[in-house]
Amino acid sequence: MSAGSERVSPTAYATGYLWYRHGLSDAALVTEQGRRLDRAFRVFIAGTRMLSGISLDALMLARHKGIDAILANAIEDGSVSQVIEIAAGLSARGWRMRQRFGDRLHYIETDLPAMARTKREMLQRAGCLGPQHQVLELDALADTGPASLAAIAGKLDPAQGTAIITEGLMNYLAPAQADAVWRRIATTLRGFTHGLYLADVYFRDQHRSTAMLAFGGMLQVFVRGRMHVHFRDADQAVARMQRCGFDTARVHRTRDIPQTRALATTAGADRVSVLAATT
Ligand SMILES: C[S@@+](CC[C@H](N)C(=O)[O-])C[C@H]1O[C@@H](n2cnc3c(N)ncnc32)[C@H](O)[C@@H]1O
Repeated sequence: MSAGSERVSPTAYATGYLWYRHGLSDAALVTEQGRRLDRAFRVFIAGTRMLSGISLDALMLARHKGIDAILANAIEDGSVSQVIEIAAGLSARGWRMRQRFGDRLHYIETDLPAMARTKREMLQRAGCLGPQHQVLELDALADTGPASLAAIAGKLDPAQGTAIITEGLMNYLAPAQADAVWRRIATTLRGFTHGLYLADVYFRDQHRSTAMLAFGGMLQVFVRGRMHVHFRDADQAVARMQRCGFDTARVHRTRDIPQTRALATTAGADRVSVLAATT
């Protein structure tokens, strides 16, 4: 059902360790596989930085912290109290948000079956799962069935504002698959009083540097599949989100988000933005 996208799962071990190395995760979510992959990627990252000045660590941190910041604002202003994170991998966002907002927040982390099982076991051992924080199986490409977004969203209260997050997923999907996922997300969010979709987003206009092409190339070899930069620029992203069923869409540059403004002065962190679309 996941149409081969499970080949992407090992990248979640590497990013999981990267978040830990930068103080955004906990030892409870560290894996030996992640530590090994991170070490290998770091050689590539250091080489890229030496040759181009672009820091891929800064890019990753900017995307993670940028999504955190916009999500936290929506929880603080009361517009969101439920979250479904699609393809959460070994990210600690759910854990950190639950620590910060407690029972004001219902957080459902999801991923393909093997990754969801691994994450559930880890978070269970750490004692942080409960009725308001779950890890469930969800295949972003499934239209129906128990692992579809619609089925998972059915577990939440339609009278509460809800956010759906994808981080590090959409660029592994072909354009038609990506459109179907965005449509599914917009349709699902329409079932709640307020809907917010957050994702990392990249633009072809900013992807032409050798470093960015090399990064994309390395990931394609690693996952044995193509990567797709879906938009030429921010205007195209906004228009496509509206075509997929969102009422509004906005691209937040990392330099415009207070929590990533300092980071955005490092080359690399300026190559990613946060897409926020609402229903
Ligand atoms: C690059 S990792 C990102 C993980 C996490 N969001 C992060 O930023 O650390 C990509 C994730 O997408 C998940 N994935 C791949 N195909 C998927 C699908 N069809 N439905 C749901 N998750 C999928 C993988 O299992 C993996 O955990």
